[in-house]
Amino acid sequence: MQNQRQSIHGTWSSQWAFILAAAGAAVGLGNIWKFPYIAGENGGGAFVLIYLGCVALIGIPLLMAEILIGRRGKRNPVNTMEDISEEIHASRQWRFVGWSYVLCGFLILTYYSVIAGWAFDYILQSASGIFAHASAEQVGHLFTQLTNKPLKLMAWHSVVMLITMLVVGRGIRAGIEKAIYFMFPGMVMLLLILVGYSMETGAFIDGVNFLFKPDFSALTRQGSLVALGHAFFTLSLATGSIMMYGAYLSDEVSVTRGAVAIAIADTGIALLAGLAIFPIVFANHLEPSAGPGLIFQTLPIAFGHMPYGTFFATLFFIMLVFAALTSAISLLEPAVAMLMERYQFTRAHAVYLAGFVCWFIGLGTVFSFNYWQDIKIFGMTFFQCLDYLTANIMLPLSGLMVAIFVVWVMPKHHSLDELKLPHTALYHCWQLTTKYIVPTAIMMIFLDFMGII
Ligand code: PHE
Repeated sequence: MQNQRQSIHGTWSSQWAFILAAAGAAVGLGNIWKFPYIAGENGGGAFVLIYLGCVALIGIPLLMAEILIGRRGKRNPVNTMEDISEEIHASRQWRFVGWSYVLCGFLILTYYSVIAGWAFDYILQSASGIFAHASAEQVGHLFTQLTNKPLKLMAWHSVVMLITMLVVGRGIRAGIEKAIYFMFPGMVMLLLILVGYSMETGAFIDGVNFLFKPDFSALTRQGSLVALGHAFFTLSLATGSIMMYGAYLSDEVSVTRGAVAIAIADTGIALLAGLAIFPIVFANHLEPSAGPGLIFQTLPIAFGHMPYGTFFATLFFIMLVFAALTSAISLLEPAVAMLMERYQFTRAHAVYLAGFVCWFIGLGTVFSFNYWQDIKIFGMTFFQCLDYLTANIMLPLSGLMVAIFVVWVMPKHHSLDELKLPHTALYHCWQLTTKYIVPTAIMMIFLDFMGII
């Protein structure tokens, strides 16, 4: 039984457009900023292994589930969940999972855009040559000088939001696709150049050992939750991005191939980013576990002491901006589509409203680094709270609900229809994993983290 629904926003022009757009959504600050530093904080290789396990066992089946649900519903996540539930006579309350998706993506964008703004600022700083031969103190000072200036942060945050709104405002093919065709290949090229540079000039073997030699004694319980939360975050799961992009996918395209391609591109790029960063860090005898400041503080010191460092540091931050923008675009689209489909906004009005509210809430993150840095909720700043709430709580829990929905609630022939796997054995594999392994893994890591088991 094929469904007759059509997306009112049109479809991707080809399978590749979808894969590039979804890979662009997946590859972002998470891969280049967050992955290397959380790997650094959690001991490297062992953490990487757990993370790869989470991507393969939980990430790919969930990517498939989200794309197939999106394509079946062909609406924003809220309407998609509502329509499908109605069609199969399940409770309409499933739409709240859709709400959680859209809300979570939206909340992430509020701070994502602020951090992406740092990358913009760093393009100018690196190009000015200010990092050349700078000491750790000087670079640290430059970083706090940036985060201490709310107006500057606000200006960059506004630039990121404006570009994102401009692209999303032009729609699927004229906006999102065009931007991705330019930014994604540009980002991959720059990254490859940087890996080549790091192989030539950095302590490459040390970097490889750090990323791939597992030392399980360095892995903590909390580290596993971080790995799981990050697998969700980096694959853009449970935020509406992937489900929304799936809604624009035409019916002939293979969901499975798309999901695997996205996971491989995303993981490959995270590892390449690690291979670009750690050898440079080690070559300068710096610490890999510097936390969130790794690429904004440690890396510029390292570049500052390398041949052609100014040039390559600038390339690095341009690459980071491309990666961040393709993700930001995918974070805004679900909220915009939701306003259009549910509340009959025009695309332009939806973009203004969603963009403005997002920009406004983002000010909370801007102030978390200066005016409000001493205001703590559960010991965390506003920004840390948002990050914690979205990445560690909302993403795994709403992802769990979608896994339950797709295999326990949706009739089997719907997923069979959408996945069109060549062998039924493969279908059963997906079904069993999604039915048992995904929920068990999410629950165990979650309960363990809450101290319940
Ligand atoms: N996956 C993106 C990253 O790794 C972040 C993101 C999350 C983008 C959710 C879209 C949706 O940076």
